[in-house]
Amino acid sequence: MTTAILSALPEEQASLIARLERAQRLTHAGRSFWKGELCARPVLLALSGIGKVAAATTATALIEHFGVARIVFTGVAGGLGEGVGVGDVVVAESFLQHDMDASPLFPRWEVPGYARTRFDCDARLSALLQDAARHCLSGADRLPELEDGVHRVHQGLVASGDRFVSGAQEALRLRESLGAAGHAVLAVEMEGAAVAQVCLDYSVPFAAIRTISDRADDTAHVDFPVFIQTVASRYAEHMVLALMRA
Ligand code: ADE
Repeated sequence: MTTAILSALPEEQASLIARLERAQRLTHAGRSFWKGELCARPVLLALSGIGKVAAATTATALIEHFGVARIVFTGVAGGLGEGVGVGDVVVAESFLQHDMDASPLFPRWEVPGYARTRFDCDARLSALLQDAARHCLSGADRLPELEDGVHRVHQGLVASGDRFVSGAQEALRLRESLGAAGHAVLAVEMEGAAVAQVCLDYSVPFAAIRTISDRADDTAHVDFPVFIQTVASRYAEHMVLALMRA
């Protein structure tokens, strides 16, 4: 039973490749995939690319071509919810596409043909990710890169869209418009909802863990690359290894 580990950026994937045993690089659909073992379990590491279309193509290749049994996404996100700060971790309970709008034909944010706005993650896999995140943020396994202070693990709704959100006003508008419709969103990123939709199509379990790299505000474009270069990859490595050991 092969687990696919999807990352958005090479920096996020780097330390997982370094830990991969029996590593083999494969190419398909113009993408590189790394096959091997982590903690003696079969894994396939892949880059989603950036944005919903690239992520959907990668997820489809993982399922159709490589026959993976489950998909786990590790990456970074912008914090939108109150109290969701840089260095915190969000385990996604469900995803929606914040840039989906086929109104007035369909309700705002509903994906036509699916009769739903939210796409749920696999509860069992998400619970394993929660445990892995808690290990990394506290106790003996606490990541040495973490600054002093308490970082939290959140679980809830994540919004995806083909847009890097980098403005306090835009972030507030997004949070408030979704919140007013009953969608309390914790974080924003650019791929998860697309992977969740593909996984629903194929009945493949999917879960996602995102570390908060910025607050999707006026300094997001500065905070994001700093976080990517410093801690993102180490976070992904620790959490994925904790998951594979479970
Ligand atoms: N991923 C990390 N930060 C993000 C942001 N502010 N907007 C969209 N995707 C992100």
